[in-house]
Amino acid sequence: MSIRMKLLLSYTWTLLVTLLIFFSIAFFVTAAVTGDVKGFRDFYRIHFSLNPLPPAVDNLYLEMKFAAKKDPSELGNPDVMVDYGNRLRTEKASLLVLKNDQIQFKSYALEDVPVQALLPPYDERNGTLRNTVEQDKRFYAYAKFDFAYRDGTPGRLFVFRELSPFAELSRRLLPIWISLLFIMLVLTNVLLFSFVTRSVVKPLEKLRRSAEHIKEGQLDFQIGTAPRNEIGQLYTSFEEMRLKLKASVEMRLQYEENRKELLSNISHDLKTPLTTIKGYIEGIRDGVPNTPEKMAKYVDTIYSKTNDMDRLIDELFLYSKLDLNQVPFSFQMIDIKRYVRDFAEELRFDLENRGFQLELAIDESPQPWMVRADPEQFKRVLSNIIANSVKFADKSDRRIRLELKRTPSEAIVTLRDNGLGIPAEALTQIFDRFYRAEVSRNSRSGGSGLGLAIAKRIVEGHGGRIWAESEPGEGTSVMISLQMADSKEEVGKS
Ligand SMILES: Nc1ncnc2c1ncn2[C@@H]1O[C@H](COP(=O)(O)OP(=O)(O)O)[C@@H](O)[C@H]1O
Ligand SMILES: [Mg+2]
Repeated sequence: MSIRMKLLLSYTWTLLVTLLIFFSIAFFVTAAVTGDVKGFRDFYRIHFSLNPLPPAVDNLYLEMKFAAKKDPSELGNPDVMVDYGNRLRTEKASLLVLKNDQIQFKSYALEDVPVQALLPPYDERNGTLRNTVEQDKRFYAYAKFDFAYRDGTPGRLFVFRELSPFAELSRRLLPIWISLLFIMLVLTNVLLFSFVTRSVVKPLEKLRRSAEHIKEGQLDFQIGTAPRNEIGQLYTSFEEMRLKLKASVEMRLQYEENRKELLSNISHDLKTPLTTIKGYIEGIRDGVPNTPEKMAKYVDTIYSKTNDMDRLIDELFLYSKLDLNQVPFSFQMIDIKRYVRDFAEELRFDLENRGFQLELAIDESPQPWMVRADPEQFKRVLSNIIANSVKFADKSDRRIRLELKRTPSEAIVTLRDNGLGIPAEALTQIFDRFYRAEVSRNSRSGGSGLGLAIAKRIVEGHGGRIWAESEPGEGTSVMISLQMADSKEEVGKS
C-alpha cells in the first residue's frame, strides 16, 4: 500500500475516532447528568428546542396549573391573578390568562406585545406544554396550560418569560456551530493530509527519481535543496553517495586508462630487448660472427639483453605486487641511524670502485632513533635511489652524500648526488611508473622507469613520504621521511 494511501486511511480513521469520542462523551455526560439513557436524545430537545423556565417561575406555573385543574374559578379571581402576576414579575416573568379567547389577565410587561397572535391553538390534551415564540426579534419562552372552566368555557393559562436574544441566538446557532466544527475537523484533516503528503511523499518521489537516474548511470545531477528534516538528512546522504559513486566511477575509468597504458609500456619494454636478441641470434644462425671474438661479443650482448629482460620482469612483478598490496611487509623496530650507517658501509666499497666519493652526515649522538620499517624493503628503496645516482652521474668528480636528520616526529633520509639533475617539470613525475626523464626510451641507461615507482610504493607502505629536489646540471636530492616510533608512542599516550 502506498504511503499516500496509508496516510489517507489513518487520517480518516482519526477523524472517525474523534467523532466517536465526541459523541460518546456527549452521550455519557448527558446520561450521567440527566440520569437517563434517553437523556441524550432528549437533551437537545429540552435544552435547545424547548426552553425551560427558571425553577422559581416554573413552580409558580405549576401552582397555577394545579389550581386550574382543581378549581378553575380561582383563575377568574382578579385578586388571585394580580397576586400571581406580581409574584411572577419579581422573577421577570409575565402572566396571561384567557377565557374563551378573552383576556382575563395580562401582565403589564406584555402590554405592547401582541402575543395572542402567536399562541398555539387550544389543546385540551395539553400535548406541548412548553415552547418558544418570537416577536420582532424578541424571544419568549412560555409554559401553558389549557383547561376548561366549570361552565365548559375553554380557559388558557400562559407564563411568559423573555429570553436574552443572545441565549436564543446561541440555541439557534448550535446546530450550525456543530456542523461548522465538523467541517473544520474534516478540513483540518484534509489540510494535514496534503501538508504531510507534500513534505514527505513528494520529496520521497524526488529521491526515487534520482535513484532512477543513478541506476541508469547518470551521475551528473543535483537532487535539489534539502528540506530541514529527516528527509533532508536522507537527501544529504544520498548526495554524498552520488558524489562517492561518481568519484569511484571516475577512478575506475582512470584505472582502466592506466591499465591500458601499463600494458602498452610493458609490451614495448619487453619487445625492445627481445628484438635485439632475435637479431643477434639470426646473425649467429647466418654465420655473421665468423671469428671467436665476434661470436663472444654476440653472445655477451645476448646475455646482457636477457639480463635486462630478467630484471625488468622482476621489477614488474614486484611493482604489480606492491600495486595490489600483496607484498607483506615484515615491520621491525630499527634504529635508523645504525641502519643507514650499515647500509653506507656495505655500499662504500662498490661505490668507490666506481669512482664515487661517499659522504655520510649522520647525527653523532648515542641515543637510537627508532622507526618501524621492513629492513629488506627499505634497503630496496635506498638501493634504487643510489642506482639512479650512479646511472645519472655525468661528472668526473662523482659524489654521493647520505644524510640523516630528524624533526620531533620524523626521521628524514636525504640522498644527494652531483649528477645530471632532473628538469623541474619532470620532478613530480619521476615517481610515476615507467617514467623516464630522458626523451628517448631507448636510452643508454636502459632502465625500466620502475625504480622510483617501487621506492614510492614501499615508502608509502611504511606510512612515510618520498620526494625529490633537483638542480639540472648540478645534482639531485631524494628525501624519504619516516614516522619516528617514539613520537608515535607519545602521540598515542597523550
Ligand atoms: N639521481 C638522478 N639524477 C638524474 N635523473 C634522475 C635521478 N633519479 C631519477 N632520475 C630520473 O627519473 C627517472 C625515473 O627513475 P627510475 O624510476 O629509477 O627509472 P629508471 O632508473 O629505470 O630510469 C629516470 O629515468 C631519470 O630520468
Ligand atoms: Mg632507476
